[in-house]
Amino acid sequence: MKPWGGRFTEKTKDIVDKFNASISFDKKLFYEDITGSIAHCKMLEKQQIITHQECEKIIEGLQIILEEIKSGNFQFREDLEDIHMNIESRLIELIGEDGGKLHTSRSRNDQVALDIRLYVKKNTFHAAELLLTLIDKFNQKAVMTQDALMPGFTHLQQAQPILLAHHLLAYSEMFKRDFRRFITLFENLNECPLGAGALAGTTFPIDRNYSANLLGFAKPTSNSLDTVADRDFIVEFISHSSIFMTHLSKLSEELILWSTSQFNFVELSDQFSTGSSIMPQKKNPDIPELLRGKSGRVFGNLISILTILKSLPLAYNKDLQEDKEPLFDTVETIINSIIITTDMIDELKFNFDTLKYWSGKNFSTATEIADYLAAKGVPFRTAHRITGEIVRMCIDHSKQLSDLTLEELHNFSPKFDSDIFTFITPESAVNRRNSYGGTSKESVLFQIENNNHFIKSNISKLKTLKGDIICSNI
Ligand code: ARG
Repeated sequence: MKPWGGRFTEKTKDIVDKFNASISFDKKLFYEDITGSIAHCKMLEKQQIITHQECEKIIEGLQIILEEIKSGNFQFREDLEDIHMNIESRLIELIGEDGGKLHTSRSRNDQVALDIRLYVKKNTFHAAELLLTLIDKFNQKAVMTQDALMPGFTHLQQAQPILLAHHLLAYSEMFKRDFRRFITLFENLNECPLGAGALAGTTFPIDRNYSANLLGFAKPTSNSLDTVADRDFIVEFISHSSIFMTHLSKLSEELILWSTSQFNFVELSDQFSTGSSIMPQKKNPDIPELLRGKSGRVFGNLISILTILKSLPLAYNKDLQEDKEPLFDTVETIINSIIITTDMIDELKFNFDTLKYWSGKNFSTATEIADYLAAKGVPFRTAHRITGEIVRMCIDHSKQLSDLTLEELHNFSPKFDSDIFTFITPESAVNRRNSYGGTSKESVLFQIENNNHFIKSNISKLKTLKGDIICSNI
């Protein structure tokens, strides 16, 4: 008989058992479920709702089950629906009827809300830890390439020369924002659902602060109806993950373009590329392509969870069982994506000569000419027009800006002196962009320094938060 079977006279159909069951995926929550049960059991004992002996027996049973699951010796049963009833039923099998006391003053509704919250908390922390290594990797690459020039783009058209390190550090900024979002989510997940019951609380004299504390939460949640219905933290996790995946997808797109023979800016390591089954010469950027593609599944997961939640009446509804697969898929996708990206960036080789060559091509320093004239009192709009005419002339005569003579420049403005030629080198264009956050070497070194500080202070922050991940007091 099912644990809830008392009021039923007919058996559920096989197809209903299958459709209703979540055990095939929610078995992932076994550790959170058992930990939550141990905390609940300790609270029941402290409040004299169960005896000391009963508490010991239950915890011993739960620990045996934990070992059985970890070692692959646990028989998961679909007819027992989910992880909660699989564990409870095995507990009763192991220690007898007293096992049934564990569920006193608890419902699967607050139980699952707790399990999933602990799971999100653990993985939010893990994502933040890994993001910090990714930020560090980009920062290290920026240190290693700090003098390298490259062309900067807007509209994917060559715009102005920049430092390669500046480009890499743009990604550090994106990942720092991702990191902060995950840490804020972690810090906001500090309320414990346990004790909300099915929807309305319980008649037993429970101590919710005690179980919250055992599980590493700052306090219990405030409203039992909201508690069993709230999955905002899943939306936040998947939303933060989606934003992060847009960053990875942009990075991947650049690596795919940059590794073409047309760009030839980078070479991906063989470890992150594959060949073609028909064209022997091919080396394909499959891993960045997959990272770019995987953003699609994470965005899909976000739409799933939002749609599941949007018209649910209070309080618990079985629709909420559908929250898990999008979440689990997102966790797996982003954790693997961060690890693989960190490794791929570590192995990435830049073609510095090509990058430097293109940094000075395509009139990339035309802005310097306009700025030069503007600094000599020519209104910027006029300076811009004059420079445009110079560029037009160069295009017509197949010349680069650096090929021009002073006489030729004087045809456009008498303000030009011979020092103009030192202004229009890519090096000078870069180093004169010394505004805060600009691409000059000085500014780049300042960004690197700030990132070092960010990484260091957040390593210690993570150390202090680690105790809160899960059940520090159990
Ligand atoms: N497997 C269920 C879920 O994931 C557990 C809660 C079931 N509660 C209920 N009242 N049927 O949401």
